[in-house]
Amino acid sequence: MTTTLDVTPLSGVLGAELRGVDLAEPMSAETLAEFRQAFVEHHVIVVRDQDLTAEQQMAFARQFGELDTHPFVEGQAAHPEVLDVITEPDDRVNFGGGWHTDVTFLEEPDLGSVLYAVDVPPVGGDTLFADQHAAYDALSPTMKSMLDGLVGIHSAGPQYAPGGTSTKSKSMRTKNADVAERRVEHPVVRTHPESGRRSLYVNGAFTIGIEGLHRDESAALLRFLLAHAVQERFTCRVRWAPGTLAMWDNRSVQHYALHDYGGHRRHMRRVTIKGDRPR
Ligand code: SIN
Repeated sequence: MTTTLDVTPLSGVLGAELRGVDLAEPMSAETLAEFRQAFVEHHVIVVRDQDLTAEQQMAFARQFGELDTHPFVEGQAAHPEVLDVITEPDDRVNFGGGWHTDVTFLEEPDLGSVLYAVDVPPVGGDTLFADQHAAYDALSPTMKSMLDGLVGIHSAGPQYAPGGTSTKSKSMRTKNADVAERRVEHPVVRTHPESGRRSLYVNGAFTIGIEGLHRDESAALLRFLLAHAVQERFTCRVRWAPGTLAMWDNRSVQHYALHDYGGHRRHMRRVTIKGDRPR
């Protein structure tokens, strides 16, 4: 395969910046295959200096699969699949603020998310990512065999039920609070459908327990796993500028939108790609 993309790693563990592609245009089959290979290998892909309308961002994402619509957050009127992720200068709640994997409360959580920076604060507002394959690999063989077969319980309740954290955002409009408490089950360790690598699959926003354990056992194990999963040694950091696009593999990473720019506005545009049932 001829190489057309220039790939520069973002940290020692995950993330890569790609150069040599204009995402406003459809990619050739060859470039798309390279992009996809880099995505599965590095889990977070950053492409800078893009100029994308919402339609072009959707068309880019559709090259990787069907788009999803967030069940609890209102999208754009013309394009329900597109979320404007906005934090106003006086907003106390920051959408995506806290380590999480997107929409694990769904039976088939998204394959990935594509975030495009429209308006960024003069300082701060970076997004952190943590590699959940690396987090799994770093566990002891005994802990790995203990986790084998365990099932996590996930729910949108903590964020989107009445009074949930995300319902308090001034800038984002949430919906369907009455069905947010629904629960779904996913393996605590999942296998990536493309790379075959195993990864930890619990997150602090949506994993509310572990099936079959007493409440205090489940809380203690989750506390350990959630802290273990996001250690600095598993992370990379994306600094945004208008026109930066990042696409992350939601099957491999957790992420955290920092809110360290009080008094400024941040506006990102997000679309998500449908995924499959974690196994
Ligand atoms: C998200 O969690 O999807 C938002 C991430 C960000 O705004 O950096």
